[in-house]
Amino acid sequence: MNALRFHQCGRPGDVLRLERIEARSLAEGEVRLRILAAPVNPADLNFIEGNYGVQAELPARPGGEGCGEVVESRAPGFVPGERAVLLCRAGTWADEVIVPGGDLFKLPTGIDPLQAAMLKVNPATAWRLLHGFATPPPGSWIVQNSANSGVGRCVIALARRMGLRTLNLVRRPELRDELLARGADAVLVDDASAVEQAVDLLGENRPSLAFNGVGGESALRLMNLLAPGGVHITYGAMSRRPLTVPNGLLIFKDLRIQGLWITRWIESAPRAELDAVYGRLAAMMLSGELLLPIAATHALGEFQVALEGAAASGRDGKILLVP
Ligand SMILES: NC(=O)c1ccc[n+]([C@@H]2O[C@H](COP(=O)([O-])OP(=O)(O)OC[C@H]3O[C@@H](n4cnc5c(N)ncnc54)[C@H](OP(=O)(O)O)[C@@H]3O)[C@@H](O)[C@H]2O)c1
Repeated sequence: MNALRFHQCGRPGDVLRLERIEARSLAEGEVRLRILAAPVNPADLNFIEGNYGVQAELPARPGGEGCGEVVESRAPGFVPGERAVLLCRAGTWADEVIVPGGDLFKLPTGIDPLQAAMLKVNPATAWRLLHGFATPPPGSWIVQNSANSGVGRCVIALARRMGLRTLNLVRRPELRDELLARGADAVLVDDASAVEQAVDLLGENRPSLAFNGVGGESALRLMNLLAPGGVHITYGAMSRRPLTVPNGLLIFKDLRIQGLWITRWIESAPRAELDAVYGRLAAMMLSGELLLPIAATHALGEFQVALEGAAASGRDGKILLVP
């Protein structure tokens, strides 16, 4: 089988190699999947660089999520031809993986495998952001930055379904009309004027939830927009800048500064909860209510082009590897 691997952490383009690895036979309870698609997520790049929440055991296979088709099974409940997403970190940048059946979520028939390849991480993160803290009542505003990211787009779709209104900050003004068409209630450019514009728009109706995927100045803008006692949740750090929290926002405004790592939820939530949440998210994908744009697809052998595409600023959608 073919798999992308790295033998030392570093810049992905420098350390990643496409290697031929001998396939092994299945143990009891395991499933062999042919990978249909796997996205290149920011977390994958951080994992290869050695800057992620789990350290790679070298040599390591990247690819934190993906969708595949069962080609062989020794696990009850799985037969060849069925499609599933991996809920574990199995190294999906490969043409096949072997995983315990218990680490799979079986997909509904008819779901687009390219969309399903992105089901595990971004939609579930958006779900937990909206349901795992203090969920506000319908009609309330929430605010987020990097609103055109995979997570941000899922937040817009899920919030709309919950009757919440989204105030979305983006780096590029040309994204405004598209995000409004996809259900965003307001879109502002994430610059020094954003807070004043947002305050004019919100009036007394300040949000009680803010989702931060950027850090630095942008994260501070979200804090300034929150209502007293509001919850500020950091899930990403695209600017690679730390949070600076003015003392007054903690003392006088009583903000709650929290974080979310979806891996922790996947590893600790009861299986029935995972099935319920992924079942609802998969149904939304199947109906087209939850759609993540795809910038390009590449074969494994084109991984250098895929990495360059994933690192490019202004990319519209995910880069997927289709082994
Ligand atoms: N905590 C968790 O469990 C969890 C789960 C999922 C994702 N994440 C994190 O969430 C973040 C977004 O992930 P994603 O998969 O949704 O991303 P994505 O779809 O690849 O989108 C990346 C976003 O980041 C913006 N961006 C890129 N470079 C930036 C910079 N230097 N400063 C500010 N913004 C920048 C992009 O804006 P442009 O389009 O304008 O370039 C775009 O909005 C990442 O940090 C990822 O690791 C965390």
